[in-house]
Amino acid sequence: MKRLLLALVFAPSLAAAAEAGFPLDRSPSDPRDLVSLQSGARTFANYCEGCHGVQYLRYNRLEELGLNEGEIRDNLMFFADKVGETMKTVMPAKEAKTWFGVAPPDLSLVARSRGADWLYTYLRTFYRDSKTMTGWNNAVFPNVAMPHALWTLQGERALEVEEPKEGEGAGRPEYRWKELSKGTLTQVEYDALVRDLVNFLVYAGEPAATTRREIGIVALFVLGVVFIFAWLVKRNFWKDVK
Ligand code: HEC
Repeated sequence: MKRLLLALVFAPSLAAAAEAGFPLDRSPSDPRDLVSLQSGARTFANYCEGCHGVQYLRYNRLEELGLNEGEIRDNLMFFADKVGETMKTVMPAKEAKTWFGVAPPDLSLVARSRGADWLYTYLRTFYRDSKTMTGWNNAVFPNVAMPHALWTLQGERALEVEEPKEGEGAGRPEYRWKELSKGTLTQVEYDALVRDLVNFLVYAGEPAATTRREIGIVALFVLGVVFIFAWLVKRNFWKDVK
């Protein structure tokens, strides 16, 4: 009986683990950390915007991350003249399709469709693979058409996967990373850079998220005050009816 209960409790998590393939790391991003958001925006402009846009975000909106117009112009605007423009990519979709086989998608909503944990893992698990067109592959996006845009920072790695042996039940493959060349950042620094980049992509998916939460708290407070007055009025009205 006890066994059966245990099996029932653990069955769903085992099934989920087997389905998920490469395990996702938890993204440590914090949407209230403005310094991290600024650094993420900088990395995006330098390493991603050549291929991807975040077309619903205007450059001047980044002022809410604590940047002034001059800083936005000097550090982030490589592809636009006016701060009122949106962060589109300059890469023509048609040519991109010929080069990569797939046009690089706009990343405005990618944090919502894939989730922060997936992005944080994806951007840290590119590896060298001579069988793909770009020479790169990815642990959570097998045969991805995107080359590793941050490889000079992370360095090159190879991935060995050992499939679980038949009949052993606990069905998770083992993953082993091998360093092929060093990047300019240490692993800790690289993880921090990706954390900031993911933070920025989450922000880009819903720039109003922080203000929305603040408005919610103010609204609850106002409702609380209204409740107290309503209750006092009610007590006053009914005090003679007993
Ligand atoms: C050289 C062009 C290029 C650069 C630079 C580039 N990407 Fe990509 N990216 C692509 C292509 C092409 C795809 C489509 C891959 C596919 O569908 O197989 C893609 C796909 C993605 C996806 C998956 C989208 C999805 O949900 O399917 C994410 C996330 C992403 N890129 C993020 C980034 C980030 C962040 C950077 C900057 C560090 C970056 N990319 C730089 C070309 C590029």
